[in-house]
Amino acid sequence: MIKLGIIGTNWISKMFVEAALQTGSYTLTTVYSRTEEKGNAFLADLDTDTDNVAVVTTLSDLYTNIDVVYIASPNALHFEQAKVAIASDVHVIVEKPSFSNPTEFAIIEELLTRHENVRVFEAARHVHQSNFKLMQQAVIELPQVQGATFVYQKYSSRYDAYLEGQEPNVLTREFSGGALYDLGVYPIYAAIALFGAPRAVQYLPTLLNNGADGRGTANLFYDQFNVTVIFGKNANSYLSSEIYGLKETISTNNIAELNTITYHDGDGNADNIGVAGTSNPMVAEASDFSRVITDPINEHVRYQQWWQLAKQVNQTLFDLRQSAGIVFPADIKD
Ligand SMILES: NC(=O)c1ccc[n+]([C@@H]2O[C@H](COP(=O)([O-])OP(=O)(O)OC[C@H]3O[C@@H](n4cnc5c(N)ncnc54)[C@H](OP(=O)(O)O)[C@@H]3O)[C@@H](O)[C@H]2O)c1
Repeated sequence: MIKLGIIGTNWISKMFVEAALQTGSYTLTTVYSRTEEKGNAFLADLDTDTDNVAVVTTLSDLYTNIDVVYIASPNALHFEQAKVAIASDVHVIVEKPSFSNPTEFAIIEELLTRHENVRVFEAARHVHQSNFKLMQQAVIELPQVQGATFVYQKYSSRYDAYLEGQEPNVLTREFSGGALYDLGVYPIYAAIALFGAPRAVQYLPTLLNNGADGRGTANLFYDQFNVTVIFGKNANSYLSSEIYGLKETISTNNIAELNTITYHDGDGNADNIGVAGTSNPMVAEASDFSRVITDPINEHVRYQQWWQLAKQVNQTLFDLRQSAGIVFPADIKD
């Protein structure tokens, strides 16, 4: 069993723990929280026996008795928390977006050269799902790709908090937040997994008063086509996402959730090529990561592919921000 530790006690950590336990490969060992009270409340909320799970309030205590840490803290904290884990020879599953910029990513890469048995995974849950793989296969079979439009725009309760004058972490540059890093990362991930790294990018954001992006439109430029990406946290969209062949189109109801995958042939006939997903959308990634941790030699190629993908996404997110003049404090710290 892989001994799992958790950083962050919000709902996403609960979902990940439930997914991990569902795979049968992990056992929850330790929960880190800034306060014992919140750590205990997190455990009480889990629908599993937690008698042997420790709650700790320092990272050094967290890393003593676990094999892997799942980091679901505000984005800007991932880097320092992951560094301590790697230095302690603990594997890392870090929520998207893994790190704030390519400088941080490079420091993590360099640190990994000195801890070569440690594996770091970015929790981009959608690209591990069966429906993503089915969509990927359908794209390979297209006679030609002529472009794509990906949309992920959901009104967030955190935007209500922002309107009330609060500064929720996810809508601040201090915590490396904003629409691009929070939701835009999903369609950007999908585009790069399907088509590779773009040769150029452009981001046109709508900014909040604090300089973070509330929503926006990005363009990823490839040699033969462009991908248009629409995302945001301050409005709802009901548009599906589409990939354009010649006369063929592949569509999904939602590029981050992938509940449906439809192939439309040249005559307009629609065929459902997706499968029903698991009720918990994090099971596929939890299962993939456990395979690499337990069988690192045979799973090395897949691991390297995810790592290179994470690196390209990290660079692309940064380039998009640069094109819009959005600077995070994490970019300018010593
Ligand atoms: N894959 C997905 O579907 C998905 C969905 C949602 C979020 N996420 C990702 O998960 C991560 C967490 O997002 P979130 O919305 O849950 O963030 P959040 O609510 O701002 O913070 C998450 C946790 O981090 C700790 N925390 C909060 N503020 C902190 C601070 N100032 N200093 C230190 N610790 C702090 C809190 O735990 P304690 O109070 O217990 O210390 C909190 O429960 C992000 O990277 C996000 O992108 C992923």
